[in-house]
Amino acid sequence: MKVKKAVIPAAGWGTRMLPATKSVPKELLYLAGKPVLQYIIEEAVASGIEDILIITNRGKSAIDDYFDYYPELEGKLAASGKAEELAAVRNPADLANFYFIRQKEAKGLGHAVGKAKGFVGNEPFAVLLGDDIMQAEKPVLRQLIDAAEKYKASALGVQQVADDALSRYSSVKVEPLEPRIFKATDMVEKPKKGEAFSNYAILGRYVLTPDIFDIIDHLEPGYGGEIQLTDALQKLCRQTPMVAVDFEGRRYDTGNPIGFLEATLEFSAQDAETGPWLQAYMQQKANQK
Ligand code: UTP
Repeated sequence: MKVKKAVIPAAGWGTRMLPATKSVPKELLYLAGKPVLQYIIEEAVASGIEDILIITNRGKSAIDDYFDYYPELEGKLAASGKAEELAAVRNPADLANFYFIRQKEAKGLGHAVGKAKGFVGNEPFAVLLGDDIMQAEKPVLRQLIDAAEKYKASALGVQQVADDALSRYSSVKVEPLEPRIFKATDMVEKPKKGEAFSNYAILGRYVLTPDIFDIIDHLEPGYGGEIQLTDALQKLCRQTPMVAVDFEGRRYDTGNPIGFLEATLEFSAQDAETGPWLQAYMQQKANQK
C-alpha cells in the first residue's frame, strides 16, 4: 500500500479569521516566513507524497497562483541579483505536482473530500487539513502512512485533548494495538457532555481508502447541517479496518486567532534570525511589568 496522493481541503469560509479572510485565503496567511499552506505541503512531500489536489473555491484562486511560476517577478529578481528571493518565489511550484478543483458550495469537510473522487481513483490517499500545521521530528503524515501500511487500514491522526476542549473535535472509540496505535471502532463529531468515546480527538491528518467516496455520496448532512467527514469515517471504520495513531509532534490550529498567534510565536522563536530578537523583546516586556 503506497500512498502517493494527498488531498488538502482549503475551501472553508475562514470565519474565525475575518476580516482578513474576506479576500485572502486563511491558508495563505503569512506565518513566520511563509504561507500556512506551504508548511502543510512540505510535510506531505517529506512523507512521500507526489501528487497534491487542493480543494479551493471561487474566492481562493490566489492559492493556484502561489503554486505556479511567476516569470515577470522571477525575471525582475534575477536581473537585480536577488538569488535568495528568486529561489523562494520559484520553489513552491516545484514541491509536487499540483491539481486544483473547486468545491462550488461550502457544504462541509466531507463534501469537500468527496470532490477528490476523480483525482484519487483506486488508491489509498492522504488528507491534510489546510489550516493545521504539524511540527514533528518524523512527519506526522509519514507516521500515519507507516501505520496504515502495517495494518492495511485507514488511519486517523489523534491526540488526547482536555475534557472541556473535546466538544470542538471528533472523539474516537479506541482499542489498543501497540504503543501509540489503536483500532478505531467508532467516533462522534463535536460530542456534547457525556457523548465522547474517549479523549482521543482527530487532529487534521488522515489516510483513507477510496471506499470513503461511496459513503460520502450517500451521506445526509450532520452536525451544523454540513456533510461531515467524521460521519463518513464512522461508516468506513465499520466496513474496513481503521487505526488511530497517537502521533508524536505538536499540532497548531492556525484557523483561529490564538492558534495562529501561538504558531507565529513558536516558529519565530525557533528561527535563527527572528528568535534572538523575539526573546529580547519578551524580556524587555517582562521587565516593564
Ligand atoms: P474548518 O472548519 O477549520 O474551516 O475546516 P472553516 O470552515 O474555514 O472555518 P471557520 O469555522 O469558518 O473559521 C477544516 C478544513 O476544511 C476545509 C477548510 O478550508 C479547512 O482547511 N473546508 C471546510 C472545506 O474545504 N470545505 C468546507 O465546506 C468546510
